[in-house]
Amino acid sequence: MAIERIIDPVLTSDDADEQIIEVTLRPQRFDDYVGQERLKTNLKLAIDAAKKRGEPIDHVLLYGPPGLGKTTMANVIANEMGAGFRVTSGPAIERAGDLASILTNLQDGDILFIDEIHRLSRVVEEVLYSAMEDFKLDIVIGKGPAARSIRLDLPKFTIIGATTRTGSLAAPLRDRFGHIYRLEFYTPEEIAKIIERASAILDSKIHPSSAKILSTRARLTPRIANRLLKRVRDFADVNGDGIIDDMSTKKALAMLEIDELGLDPADRNLLRSMIDNYGDNPVGLTTLAALTGDETTTIEDFYEPYLLQIGFIEKTPRGRRVTPRAKKHLDSPLG
Ligand SMILES: Nc1ncnc2c1ncn2[C@@H]1O[C@H](COP(=O)(O)OP(=O)(O)OP(=O)(O)O)[C@@H](O)[C@H]1O
Ligand SMILES: [Mg+2]
Repeated sequence: MAIERIIDPVLTSDDADEQIIEVTLRPQRFDDYVGQERLKTNLKLAIDAAKKRGEPIDHVLLYGPPGLGKTTMANVIANEMGAGFRVTSGPAIERAGDLASILTNLQDGDILFIDEIHRLSRVVEEVLYSAMEDFKLDIVIGKGPAARSIRLDLPKFTIIGATTRTGSLAAPLRDRFGHIYRLEFYTPEEIAKIIERASAILDSKIHPSSAKILSTRARLTPRIANRLLKRVRDFADVNGDGIIDDMSTKKALAMLEIDELGLDPADRNLLRSMIDNYGDNPVGLTTLAALTGDETTTIEDFYEPYLLQIGFIEKTPRGRRVTPRAKKHLDSPLG
């Protein structure tokens, strides 16, 4: 990413403090997991049914923008099933042999969480989907004319895959998932609940009205809500008695240059350069990326989902276009 953004929905992997906070705040059971009601209802049913039959649940694919709770949900499913939980990721499984050793080491009923599953190589993907289908692993031993294939029985496991982009997943792999769910943005009310829960766990006091202010500035994303809470808490600790009130909340947000809708300078810059250079005309993704100096994937995964959600940009067959609503926001004193 070109600039470090406080509202970056991605977990910055070198921020140890933030990682500890994520783990501490991560809901463990359905009851602590706020929102995503449709997902929870469906999964609860699937889990109850699987438990009754004494079988693992069907493979689950979770997709949606970063920071909405995919990893958290995978963890909750494992807890609710009372299953062993193993974690890996697409880029970590380099060769088919790596996958074979992970799969043969699983126990019956285990859940294998594969983060960034869209980044598996094609070869590994093929091995995976046949293993998901019939819990058998075909491996080739040797090379050339002497090569022979043997078939291993695998334990009955469940794969939970997470991805920000289902589009990049090969259709045969996607078809092996019995449950495919998109995680939705949260409502401000749900975000406020998440903030109040987090501040209770972190043992800091926040006025309900201040939680409400934060709830509309966190891009409807729990990870950003928790991060803003932490920054506002620091501000209240340094500049006051540590209790988070409306004044400290607003001052901290102003310092971070986050506006009433949770937009930061990078978002405003993106919208402004779209308007200045293209007016009402649609802009292609690669042009847009060149305009801001970001990767196209950065625009697609990080900027765009929230801006689309709040109706500030729209997708047309010829590209992305800024809406009148966004222009109004930028022209107002808030923008
Ligand atoms: N429904 C929820 N209720 C309460 N807190 C949540 C919820 N979902 C996520 N969180 C909080 O947000 C943090 C980020 O969630 P999580 O790591 O699960 O996101 P993710 O979708 O896996 O993101 P990424 O795509 O970057 O991997 C969690 O540590 C947790 O504290
Ligand atoms: Mg995750």
